Amino acid sequence: GCRYDRRRPVYRVQGRIFIQKNSCPKEPEILRGVLFRPDDILIVTYPKSGTVWMQEIVPLILSQGDPVVVDTVPNWDRVPWLEARAYIQNLDQRPSPRVFITHFQYNMMPTGFLKVKPRVIYVMRNPRDVFTSYLHFSRMASYLVSPGTQTEFLNKFLDGKGIQYMDCLSIAFVHFYPLCLFSLLGLIFNPETGIRRLWPLHIHINFFSSLTLVIFGSWFDHVKGWLSATEQHIMYISYEEMILDLEASVTRMAQFLDTPLDSEMIRKITDRCVFKNMKKNKMSNYSLMPSTMMDQNVSEFLRKGIAGDWKNHLTAAEAENFDEFYRKQMKDVKYTFVWD
Ligand code: A3P
Repeated sequence: GCRYDRRRPVYRVQGRIFIQKNSCPKEPEILRGVLFRPDDILIVTYPKSGTVWMQEIVPLILSQGDPVVVDTVPNWDRVPWLEARAYIQNLDQRPSPRVFITHFQYNMMPTGFLKVKPRVIYVMRNPRDVFTSYLHFSRMASYLVSPGTQTEFLNKFLDGKGIQYMDCLSIAFVHFYPLCLFSLLGLIFNPETGIRRLWPLHIHINFFSSLTLVIFGSWFDHVKGWLSATEQHIMYISYEEMILDLEASVTRMAQFLDTPLDSEMIRKITDRCVFKNMKKNKMSNYSLMPSTMMDQNVSEFLRKGIAGDWKNHLTAAEAENFDEFYRKQMKDVKYTFVWD
């Protein structure tokens, strides 16, 4: 149930402008006219499901383990966001195979994508852990609406409204910080006035490019939508499988991407991508982001990197509530999830 009402496309929360609740553009303007290539690779995730992890793994597979690209290019540039297309230079001139990342729901993908059918790796994660990770992330990322208490955030998460809405400037900030840096240098580095002084500009941009507003919607819609995309060329994998056996996961992805890797390369890639090693990579751990945007003292971006951390956070009542909602929502889904 995603409808886009052009009469009231935006609403405000705490001075920030968001797209109208319970609405979702069918084919966001930002994706219109993207020329997909058959050999493009698209990584799709719901937020907090292992996005940045994939931005490490896939480039390493394509380079057959050569770490230069992950050591020198920030994750948002080596695997750019479709959402931020307006801010990426020379997308069309990038050499094949291009790798993109997106949080868009399946029903928001443009017709070009449906026709060309580029390869997709869809990554899923136990929604209880997605929730836990998202709660911590919302506390540290200043550009997101404050999550409120855990219970409040849980209601919003299950409801699928209110938390996942991001606007174009947030995305530009998150993923194109260096670009913003040049134009907004003074503002960003002035923690006193920085973020607040940007709101007028923010509002301005939103007015003129409400076209680029995006939403990601509920976890349940997201996963069900992408699982229903049977005609596309999709590999499904979960965060939990990657935790359980990263070598096997890398091998499977390499096969899907037609990139033969010997066991030594696979071992090398796996070693680079395990949590404790990847966490040290400045180009991947978001430490390049100013603390006014992401305060890693509140919670690190690469926070715990485990499966099942929800058990340390959800109360028994919350977990039960979650289970009941999950059962109802997923009753018709045939896919077998590792966490079930
Ligand atoms: P936690 O908050 O549970 O630690 P995304 O990149 O989609 O925003 O997801 C972030 C989550 O993926 C965080 O989860 C982060 O720690 C985890 N993550 C990132 N890199 C990882 C890695 N190499 N191994 C395990 N988990 C990783």
